[in-house]
Amino acid sequence: MKVDFHSHFLPGIDDGASTPAQSVAILKYMKGNGIERVCATSHFAKHGEHVASFLERRSRAVRVLNDYIDSNGIDRQTLPAITLGAEVHLYRNLSEREGLRELCYEGSDHILLELPFRKFEGWELEEVYNIMYQLKVTPVMAHINRYTQYYSKSEYADMFYNGDFVLQINCESANAFSGSSLIKKVLNSGYDVVFGCDIHSPDKTSESGLEKTAKILSKQSKDKQLELESIERSVLGR
Ligand SMILES: [Fe+2]
Repeated sequence: MKVDFHSHFLPGIDDGASTPAQSVAILKYMKGNGIERVCATSHFAKHGEHVASFLERRSRAVRVLNDYIDSNGIDRQTLPAITLGAEVHLYRNLSEREGLRELCYEGSDHILLELPFRKFEGWELEEVYNIMYQLKVTPVMAHINRYTQYYSKSEYADMFYNGDFVLQINCESANAFSGSSLIKKVLNSGYDVVFGCDIHSPDKTSESGLEKTAKILSKQSKDKQLELESIERSVLGR
């Protein structure tokens, strides 16, 4: 795992880091644990905001962070590289939202989609396919580990094990036996999978599960590890 695909380290834009000092603490933790690139996936669409306004807020947060790094003489080698993105909350007719494609990971045609935390209603799958075909993007399904409690086994399989989407698992999964099993199951399944800590605060690094996830991944075969790195590159469009 060289890339963290889900993170809320940008300062003052959502419920993640509130100051650039917190952002840097998160980034240093990532780099110290082998992460070379972190994707900034701040929350989008919680309050019906326009895409353009979100992108403006995101640019402002990046400026605040860069100014802090420069004015404090922080060596950028001690931080991972950054790719901008968004965590896009799914709702009915989201596919019709103007400018949605701009929320893909920078330079990529992959978009991180967060399903509502509630029982499966059926429209979710249809909406994800609408987004996929209308926008010509590949959905990356955020923190699939969090839906086992809401979805039946068959709903879960329909939603996540269809082979059309990239699956994103939060590293926190590795902290529990059931979560570790899910990681191993998905790794063995052959579905495209990426990881992220979904970290919101430097105080939460000990619960992130990053080290435990790295341990699970380090036990995979060399071929599997190369395959995971190739998935990381393809999601980033590199
Ligand atoms: Fe998140």
